[in-house]
Amino acid sequence: VTQSAGALVLFGVTGDLARKMLLPALYQLTARGEFDLPIIGVAKTDLDLDGLREHARAACGGVRDAAFDKLAGNLRLVSGDYRDAATFARLSDEVAGKGFLVHYLAVPPALFEPVAEGLAAEGLNRDARLVVEKPFGSDLDSARALNAELLKYFDEDHLRRVDHFLGKEPVEDLMVFRFANMLLEPIWNRNYIRSIQITMAEDFDVADRGAFYDANGAIRDVVQNHLLQLLAILAMDPPPSKDARAMLDEKWRVLRAVQAVKPDDVVRGQYDGYLDTEGVKKDSTTETFVALRAYVDNWRWAGVPFCIRSGKALPVTDLEIVAELRKPPVTLFEHDPNLSPNLVRFRLQPDAGVTFDVLAKEPGLQRTRVVPVSVDFTKVFGPMEAAYQRILADAGSGDPRRFARFDLVEESWRIVQPILDLPDRPLPYPKGSWGPKEAEKIAPGGWHEISNSFD
Ligand code: BG6
Repeated sequence: VTQSAGALVLFGVTGDLARKMLLPALYQLTARGEFDLPIIGVAKTDLDLDGLREHARAACGGVRDAAFDKLAGNLRLVSGDYRDAATFARLSDEVAGKGFLVHYLAVPPALFEPVAEGLAAEGLNRDARLVVEKPFGSDLDSARALNAELLKYFDEDHLRRVDHFLGKEPVEDLMVFRFANMLLEPIWNRNYIRSIQITMAEDFDVADRGAFYDANGAIRDVVQNHLLQLLAILAMDPPPSKDARAMLDEKWRVLRAVQAVKPDDVVRGQYDGYLDTEGVKKDSTTETFVALRAYVDNWRWAGVPFCIRSGKALPVTDLEIVAELRKPPVTLFEHDPNLSPNLVRFRLQPDAGVTFDVLAKEPGLQRTRVVPVSVDFTKVFGPMEAAYQRILADAGSGDPRRFARFDLVEESWRIVQPILDLPDRPLPYPKGSWGPKEAEKIAPGGWHEISNSFD
């Protein structure tokens, strides 16, 4: 199951994802001495192998060094149509004798099934793992149907569904911070936490991704996958051991306890001007912003709202989680103008760290007043490592913990299913704002300002 790769077969080697993410990540891994395997690129392309090498060089910023030479030396090319049996016959010749294969499908989801079938026709599904990019389905039924198709050729142990957020260093930090310390665990429940807010803001619009985005919207694009994965990591019980299965089981258990989101607990928005974007339907009701409340029905979290908001064309680009603690049962400082709740902030992007917002005494002999102070754990976090390096390394080694196991995917579609394709028009919001003002009501007491927008 966790057999290491003898070769990487990269479908879509000339595509966008490979150019922007995968080839640069492979170069970085090669430069660090962590990757040295044949890479067989597959694409429908007019390029020859030298052309592909130059394409890869450009993708890696035009580098000329030993690491790139090594990467280029490892590159091979099989060009052809993904629906043509001859392509897979040529691939079969190319990979002969290379050992365990990792097939990475950086191609549109409509091609997942044809490629898996083409591989199987040549027996290339044996001694092999299949890695697929998101989106995995577009609702619960289509995800199940897609999975059933893939299971004809690869079993769950040999399937990996990419959610690149799980490769992010700050997401790893979050897990370590929760489970390496005793500090949070006693308060990490409904007795002490009033709400948890997850904000994923992007200050750019959908730009040239209109056609893709319009068929998806914020809920399918980032909530069903990235943000529910974060919720699971935040809310899960500590796994009993560090093996991948124990961790994935705990994530599944907590997602299983999340109620399907009610349409009344959602505010959808669309930024002004979205309908003029190329590829977007003129009467599109796709949301470019969403704010929602979800509830986890278990002993730890019952009644605590997990508020999630995400959108395009917001004031900043930032990923932050804010846990608000309840008020002390008796407060001695009721009328103090500085009184504010304790907050635990996990800052994931653009910088990574954890901050505790607490109250201290304002220095001075005369008065006893409180003053907010921040305890900042930023320095213990390492530099941001590109998520795709970790994803590719795990795809190679087979470690399943940073991929979306199907039962988790299934639960997350179930959670958002009632709010997909709501008939009402999303509420308009101006670009550069925090979405429609109605979204404010989703979080009890309103959304906390995120650190990145502080002065
Ligand atoms: C992708 C979404 O999965 O994640 C994009 O399709 C989004 O819409 C992106 O911008 C954000 O990822 P990152 O790693 O840039 O924060």
